[in-house]
Amino acid sequence: MLGKILFRYLKRYKWLLLGVLVFQFGSAFASLYLPRLNADIIDKGVANADTAYIWSHGGLMLAVSLGQIIASVIATYFAARAAMSLGRDIRADVFARVSGFSEREVSQFGAGSLITRNTNDVQQVQMLAMMGSTMFITAPLLAIGGIIMALQTNLGLSWLIAVSVPALLIVAGIIIGRMVPLFRSYQGKLDNVNRIMREQLTGVRVVRAFVRERIEEERFRGANTDIMVVGRNVGSLFVLLFPLFMLILNVTIVGVIWFGGIEVNNGTVEVGTLFAFMQYIGQIMMGIIMSSFMAMMIPRAAVSAERVGEVLDAEQSMTRPENGVKAFPVPGSVAFDDVSFTYPGAESPVLHGISFAAEPGETVAIVGSTGAGKTTLISLIPRLFDVTGGAAFVGGTDVREADVDALWKSIGLVPQRPFLFSGTIASNLRYGREDATDEELWAALDIAQARDFISEMPDGLDSNIAQGGTNVSGGQRQRLAIARAIIHQPEILVFDDSFSALDLTTDARLRQALWRELPHVTKIVVAQRVSTITDADRIVVLEGGTMVAVGTHEQLLETSDTYREIVESQLGVDA
Ligand SMILES: Nc1ncnc2c1ncn2[C@@H]1O[C@H](COP(=O)(O)OP(=O)(O)OP(=O)(O)O)[C@@H](O)[C@H]1O
Ligand SMILES: [Mg+2]
Repeated sequence: MLGKILFRYLKRYKWLLLGVLVFQFGSAFASLYLPRLNADIIDKGVANADTAYIWSHGGLMLAVSLGQIIASVIATYFAARAAMSLGRDIRADVFARVSGFSEREVSQFGAGSLITRNTNDVQQVQMLAMMGSTMFITAPLLAIGGIIMALQTNLGLSWLIAVSVPALLIVAGIIIGRMVPLFRSYQGKLDNVNRIMREQLTGVRVVRAFVRERIEEERFRGANTDIMVVGRNVGSLFVLLFPLFMLILNVTIVGVIWFGGIEVNNGTVEVGTLFAFMQYIGQIMMGIIMSSFMAMMIPRAAVSAERVGEVLDAEQSMTRPENGVKAFPVPGSVAFDDVSFTYPGAESPVLHGISFAAEPGETVAIVGSTGAGKTTLISLIPRLFDVTGGAAFVGGTDVREADVDALWKSIGLVPQRPFLFSGTIASNLRYGREDATDEELWAALDIAQARDFISEMPDGLDSNIAQGGTNVSGGQRQRLAIARAIIHQPEILVFDDSFSALDLTTDARLRQALWRELPHVTKIVVAQRVSTITDADRIVVLEGGTMVAVGTHEQLLETSDTYREIVESQLGVDA
């Protein structure tokens, strides 16, 4: 998965990466050449007191180091650009993917986990791309090139390399092998911390009201400690890595000086060569250390890539039909034909055998006790879920065959728990239609009986809305959501218990305005209050997920016991 993701996204930046490659090569060759020059200056220049040689080769050495620095800076810059672009692209794709998710997929991953995946996990992959592309060439080139160059010095100390390199590899292997499983569990623990934090924030009122702060803190502490323990274990292994590397490096260098010193004394080896050999040993070790860094990052990034890939490859339960129907034959009609629905993972269906229709311009009310399945039923109209049996029709077309954008354009939904975005009143209303004029906004607010409270606000339409719409009252939020749906100019308006937070007079005025101003719009109204729906063209009575009766208010009073019970409980016996 890691390979697949890196390949898929990095191939867009192949020219940048080619640049990285070229400059990496340059930088590595310069690094390998420098000790040679150094040795020459000492052995040929200094030893023979040849000032001209020292000057010329000194200058060359300076130029080569300068070139090496510039090459490595450019390589790093290119690598950073490629890696950061890769991160941006993955995040954009994950976001687009998640936007197409229905509730089913969101609950499968969990909102918190989706956020972690699109931030922290992407960052891991991005970091690997960054480090990987800068070290990809340098590390092996330094290690292998260093070994070749060191052997060329003919010092007779090659056995030191044969001892120290394996020692280094063994140490790296043992420590990294122990770190990998820890990284694996780290991301999962991070998910937990995010989830609890999110729940705490969204449920803050409930937490306070039930004095659960202590318990929530306890819960957070548990998850937080978990992540700390894993982090600490990683840290304690990490802390070992460098001292052990340095120990091996220094012991090797002491060996070089000791055994090389004897040779220098005997006059078989020159000082400069010994010096160069020592630098090559350093470079070999450096190469190995870089490689182990990579080896450490790859498993962690692989876990993250796996998690990101799961989101990118998630089956979307709501498929967008190709060449979906755009122009509906009967705009504004809604029909259910023997519809049943089971929530994903649930054992028994929530709705069964529901059939009814609303012709364009009609008002159909849905009543039923709490938990009867009203919200579930209307969420099938805009395909928030897909039916599991039968079919739902909008505009005379099966919703699964309709073009999704055309479908959503024809429906204005006022959800049971309306959601407002952070921004202003106007920006929230224009969610319905971007190019709506201020006059159109006010007209919709008039119908929704929201003009008064908005004109009382100091900034009017530009008044601030806090994240989640927490700075307006429940009833105000409902009316803004209704206005937003009206501004959308749909053929079908769907109200899910949208008048429940309004007082009776506002409720009555709102409905009158709605029916007067928008007579041609089909209205599907879920209601608790029977008074809200007595003049509907049709009333559907739901009980435990089945449709027990359908008809007008008068008909139902005659025929349906369930309906009569509801009416009597609300309006008194002589309703
Ligand atoms: N996301 C879900 N996953 C599983 N079951 C669900 C889900 N949402 C609702 N249900 C179940 O479906 C049934 C019907 O719920 P629904 O929200 O449609 O009722 P409702 O008639 O709108 O009630 P209310 O009047 O309280 O809004 C309930 O028994 C509920 O437990
Ligand atoms: Mg409901």
